[in-house]
Amino acid sequence: MSLQGKRVVVVGGTSGIGLATAKAFLEKSAHVIIASRSAEKLSEAKKELGENVEGYELDFRSDEKVAGFFSKVGNFDHLVVTAGEGAMGHFSDLPVAQVREAFDSKFWGQYITVHAALPYLDKAGSITLTSGVYGIRPPKGASTLASINSAIDGLVRGLAVDLSPVRVNVVSPGIVDTPIYSGMPEDQRQGMYSQISQQLPVGRVAQPEDIAQTYVYLAQNGFTTGTSVLIDGGAHLV
Ligand SMILES: NC(=O)c1ccc[n+]([C@@H]2O[C@H](COP(=O)([O-])OP(=O)(O)OC[C@H]3O[C@@H](n4cnc5c(N)ncnc54)[C@H](OP(=O)(O)O)[C@@H]3O)[C@@H](O)[C@H]2O)c1
Repeated sequence: MSLQGKRVVVVGGTSGIGLATAKAFLEKSAHVIIASRSAEKLSEAKKELGENVEGYELDFRSDEKVAGFFSKVGNFDHLVVTAGEGAMGHFSDLPVAQVREAFDSKFWGQYITVHAALPYLDKAGSITLTSGVYGIRPPKGASTLASINSAIDGLVRGLAVDLSPVRVNVVSPGIVDTPIYSGMPEDQRQGMYSQISQQLPVGRVAQPEDIAQTYVYLAQNGFTTGTSVLIDGGAHLV
């Protein structure tokens, strides 16, 4: 299925996996629309992607803002959501308020976005959400992300049935070198990457481009729906 001239919305398209995904769709000659909260990230991303890309400030946790966003975008063909903030911490230590905040972002943000997108989304199009390998293989301190990612994987199976003929899938990445870890001191971040790389069958952590290809594949393959694509370098095996 050609993506040439198709209108693709990437919520979270200003950084990391979303930015690489926006680039990958542009390489397929799609018209790309990106959205996230920060005006600065939007302007940096537009510089990197080129001026043909449309960009909107959006906080996907707000029903009203998301509805306003899609009314400005109008009709489109494929929805990708990579936005989302989780929370790490041992079950006994993590305050419930922080767990709720993480659900408000990564789970409810994606849910609200799909809801508001539907009136504008082409029936021959697709929706691709984002979960993560911790949904099936959580290390210590990942019970919140295990819950959120599993909830998203489940939501996608239900949506694939409810929203048919629109196809609905989810990408489940392992550890990817993105600005999501920019809060960590550089040596700590590199130490984490190298420790994980040693454990993984592929011997390295992912780059955003490794994951971006999968969103393109899921938009293009008209026979794929209700599927979670795990791209984790073998993390679920070790
Ligand atoms: N990197 C990994 O190792 C990894 C592993 C497994 C799963 N994942 C999942 O993959 C997804 C993308 O992660 P990433 O590594 O690419 O992160 P990232 O580089 O931090 O990018 C996240 C993007 O989401 C946007 N965003 C965050 N909260 C938002 C909100 N409330 N409303 C609108 N946009 C929002 C951010 O922009 P603004 O700040 O401007 O809003 C940014 O563009 C996340 O769901 C993450 O949990 C990542």
